[in-house]
Amino acid sequence: MANRKAVVVGAGSISNAWFDPLADEKVEVAGVVDLDASRAAGQIARHKLACKPSDDLNATLRAVRPDFVVDLTVPDAHCNVTCRALRGGCHVLGEKPMAASMAEARRMVRAAERTGKCYMVSQSRRWAATHERLARAIAGRRLGTLTTANCDFYMARHSSCFRVTMDSPLILDMAIHHFDLARMLTGTDPVAVYAHEFNPHGSWYDGDVAASCIFEMTDGVVFTYRGSWCAEGWPTSWHGDWRLIGDRGTLVYERDREPRGKRVTRRTGRGKKPTLEPVKLPPARLKHQAMRGALREMLRYLRTGERPQTECHDNIKSLAMVFAAMESSRKGRRVPVRT
Ligand SMILES: NC(=O)c1ccc[n+]([C@@H]2O[C@H](COP(=O)([O-])OP(=O)(O)OC[C@H]3O[C@@H](n4cnc5c(N)ncnc54)[C@H](O)[C@@H]3O)[C@@H](O)[C@H]2O)c1
Repeated sequence: MANRKAVVVGAGSISNAWFDPLADEKVEVAGVVDLDASRAAGQIARHKLACKPSDDLNATLRAVRPDFVVDLTVPDAHCNVTCRALRGGCHVLGEKPMAASMAEARRMVRAAERTGKCYMVSQSRRWAATHERLARAIAGRRLGTLTTANCDFYMARHSSCFRVTMDSPLILDMAIHHFDLARMLTGTDPVAVYAHEFNPHGSWYDGDVAASCIFEMTDGVVFTYRGSWCAEGWPTSWHGDWRLIGDRGTLVYERDREPRGKRVTRRTGRGKKPTLEPVKLPPARLKHQAMRGALREMLRYLRTGERPQTECHDNIKSLAMVFAAMESSRKGRRVPVRT
């Protein structure tokens, strides 16, 4: 028997990563909606779903009355689709980035408040066992007091999708993952940023596809991000390659390998080298990764009312890092990060 009923909106490439987790969690997909109904039909056939394709969201919501909507549309459409679903009486689990502007994101938060419905964002990289272990190691002070987080992301993404014509494809569509991870791993929130976005020579993107950003976070932590989506040769991990430094040691997490690190066991006094030992991460607790992890948080919310970690009031802080970085780059100066 189906656990819950959902309507999927947006039948593009990422929907392929959602239909299996929905089936595994016994969620009935009762409708697939896309501006292009033939795409919805194609995905229904491909994933052997027992529902009808549609290009009319409101009509589908009225006919099907789902518990929640899974919004897998392009960033520009998130606000419209999510607000309509919330007003239609549904909770929403939407793909990142939350919205294409802060004004839209604030409208979505208000819509969730007015309707009393839950809107959570799927930041898939939060549901990765290593990330959850790193966050617990840092919260448990295995590096002492955290001072510094660095993340590098370098990839060559060749495709002709919506990202190629975006103004800020790296910051809005990709770095949102790393900015959100920075908040999760460090347990801090953004305060201010100085950023420089650019489109490197030889880029096949229209907009700025590379950036360097320095964020001041709460508790005095400094988070530095460097990235490019048109960097040929020697890619980093999609999660980014990370260095986390506290007053007692350092952890390095690169190319998806098990993080390595050293920490001070005993201080030997000024000018003398301290004794170091390897940093051990706590064992994994997380059982379900990526989209399935996000989905399980929505299902737990429906069962218990427990707020998902990426519920919109929290996730808007990660999105605010995106738009503050763009503003800083435009203005050529440090700007506060405001939600
Ligand atoms: N979590 C991840 O790792 C990850 C990876 C890739 C993409 N994404 C996110 O998923 C979202 C979709 O990306 P994609 O690569 O599948 O894009 P896509 O272009 O392949 O698919 C988007 C689909 O949405 C449809 N659509 C657009 N506006 C709509 C509207 N108003 N109503 C109904 N349908 C509409 C389009 O017709 C298209 O079929 C983006 O927000 C992207 O950032 C997340």
